[in-house]
Amino acid sequence: MKRLVIVSNRVPAAGTPQAGGLVVALADLLRRHKGLWFGWSDALTEKPAAEPRLVDRQGVSCAMIDLTPEEHRKYYLGFSNSVLWPLMHILPGVVRFHPHELETYRAVNVRFAQALKGLLKRGDLIWVQDYQLLAVPAALRELRVSNPIGFFLHIPFPPPVVAAISEGLLALVRDVLSADLIGFQTATDAEHFAQTAAQYAGARRVGRMGLKLGERTVRLGVFPVEIDAREFARVTEAAMQRAPAQDLAHNLRDRALVLGVDRLDPSKGLAERLTAYQQFLAAEPDWRRRVSFLQIAAKSREGVQAYRSLLRELEKVAGATNGANADPDWTPLKLVTQSSTRTTVASYMRHARVGLVTPLRDGMNLVAKEFVAAQDPSDPGVLILSRFAGAATQLQAALQVNPYDPDQIQAALRRALTMPLEERRERWQSLWDVIKDKTALAWGEAFAEALAGRGTVGQRGT
Ligand code: G6P
Repeated sequence: MKRLVIVSNRVPAAGTPQAGGLVVALADLLRRHKGLWFGWSDALTEKPAAEPRLVDRQGVSCAMIDLTPEEHRKYYLGFSNSVLWPLMHILPGVVRFHPHELETYRAVNVRFAQALKGLLKRGDLIWVQDYQLLAVPAALRELRVSNPIGFFLHIPFPPPVVAAISEGLLALVRDVLSADLIGFQTATDAEHFAQTAAQYAGARRVGRMGLKLGERTVRLGVFPVEIDAREFARVTEAAMQRAPAQDLAHNLRDRALVLGVDRLDPSKGLAERLTAYQQFLAAEPDWRRRVSFLQIAAKSREGVQAYRSLLRELEKVAGATNGANADPDWTPLKLVTQSSTRTTVASYMRHARVGLVTPLRDGMNLVAKEFVAAQDPSDPGVLILSRFAGAATQLQAALQVNPYDPDQIQAALRRALTMPLEERRERWQSLWDVIKDKTALAWGEAFAEALAGRGTVGQRGT
């Protein structure tokens, strides 16, 4: 078995209770492949050492480098999260360009490649993760690294007209084409990427899932990220006995719980969602006191202006909703900006009558899959899902909505709250059938095998 080297912006902290299923699965994959995880240490220092720090985190070898505060500002808060992130989610109004950020982004990617090079062995499979590291494949090739290089984009890829809003992104498309295999969450993302590469990066298309640059072929693949559904269901069962689940049940009394669980991020459609709930309470007075909306919106990327102003906007809507409706023993909407542990969230999902997952656009959205896995099959809650989440291509039996339109979310909310048990069970069963035999580990194995040239290159049309 070849050694697998994962490269990502962050190296996950050891054993954090918040660690998502994906991080756990990648760590498992690395344990199996006796692999290495390389990335940023999460620390900022004025003069970072060129050599990476080596540590063992629960049986996974990790190598980390620090960033300077300026690199963090321009590469992470700047080009990655103020240009690439909003553009990839088709939110051009949120994009903010600042001078020299692309240069710093590239320089950090080059520094990653240089620090990694000394650790590489012949035959290692290198797997680069996500939009923060699009230039790493080209930087490694510049350094004459000839190992197989795979790249997986966890977030969506936009159509060429949107990608072209940043010449920087077009240049990075050229850089990532130095990889041998590029994976996407959906066939639509792969198609958008192929079109952009053909229009702007000098690539020729070979079939639907191949690109040629001169004589070199780059394979594209579709690998929708999965969760370990049965394990999540077990985690949920155990979590129901714990204090947070019981406190929630006590506070809810017999009110229907509407639940949202997200990072506080402009792509998540939170303002539209909260507005839809506000409209719902105004239009359906019968539901007052019979429903409670808990929105967990964990603070994230607070150094980016758009994230700070989003928080203020949400606090306003939440304040107005509670101001207009609350009474001494009913808070219609709770907006919680601290993150909760995975187990606590699982138990909240199990209590929820409705899961509201309405991102304006999302690579996949694992919360949607977790919500399905957390339900009680005999009395399941209803998933309301954005048509623009990658998960929507798989989770067809959810109530799908246009997340930009509060009226649609409001109508779906009414439908979900009044849905007969039989329909809830049928829909849940169809959703469960889609996810029940999948695991995040199998997702990682499939990519690694395709990179090693053994597996098929992902699924089509999922
Ligand atoms: C998304 C991205 C990841 C990123 C995560 C958390 O899931 O696809 O690459 O790590 O958000 O964001 P952060 O900026 O805190 O790493």
